[in-house]
Amino acid sequence: MTSLPSSVTTGPTDLPPNTCALPRTGQLAGLLTAIRDKKTARGDFIFYSDRIIRLLVEEGLNHLPVVEQTVRTPTGLDYNGVSFEGRICGVSIMRAGEAMEAGLRECCRAVRIGKILIQRDEETAQAKLFYAKLPDDIQSRYCLLLDPMLATGGSAIKAVEVLIDHGVPQERIIFLNLVSCPEGLRAMYAAYPQVKVVTAWVDDGLDSHKYIVPGLGDFGDRYFTSN
Ligand code: PRP
Ligand code: URA
Repeated sequence: MTSLPSSVTTGPTDLPPNTCALPRTGQLAGLLTAIRDKKTARGDFIFYSDRIIRLLVEEGLNHLPVVEQTVRTPTGLDYNGVSFEGRICGVSIMRAGEAMEAGLRECCRAVRIGKILIQRDEETAQAKLFYAKLPDDIQSRYCLLLDPMLATGGSAIKAVEVLIDHGVPQERIIFLNLVSCPEGLRAMYAAYPQVKVVTAWVDDGLDSHKYIVPGLGDFGDRYFTSN
């Protein structure tokens, strides 16, 4: 097997205990290299991002409870397995989080989806809440909160606040994210230590404009509007 460069295998350490980063495999590093490349055109950006999103959703679902279930197989024997227990819903932080809805639907066909519109001010990087529309019974569901980028953490923390205001306990929230950084992860842990953060990659940090570095630029623009 080809060995991976240390730039790929080593990342920030001392991450908060609620962080679960995907294993740094060659496949995952390759997918991220493709979407980080500023020369990658939108069609490819979408294709590779969607592959990472699928990995994240599958890992996120691993954090949900299961119950024992026995089934009879076509061989006539019983198989003592498990079935999925918790009722779930997806909540996307608009706009970029909407890119993750299809990946969630591919794994959970009839999943209910809520939306929270939060935008970061381009000058100050402060997150502002505009709108939330969530399933009526959200307080009885596990919530998979969707946003590809965790920079300062302001947007994700505001979204968790909205979910908690709607009766969702923080231990039922799993935040799925493509690229994070230590600053955002620490801010989320300080605010909501029981929210589980599943991230594909933890980058080095933030630049002076509060963009993730090395990062990939503005995810929403690259997925929805660029050439
Ligand atoms: C981006 C991103 C996150 C937020 C991350 O959204 O999708 O929601 O910034 O930054 P933070 O952790 O510092 O809050 P943006 O507000 O740019 O809107 P968009 O989804 O329309 O691109
Ligand atoms: N939003 C993005 O899309 N990218 C960043 O690096 C930070 C916020």
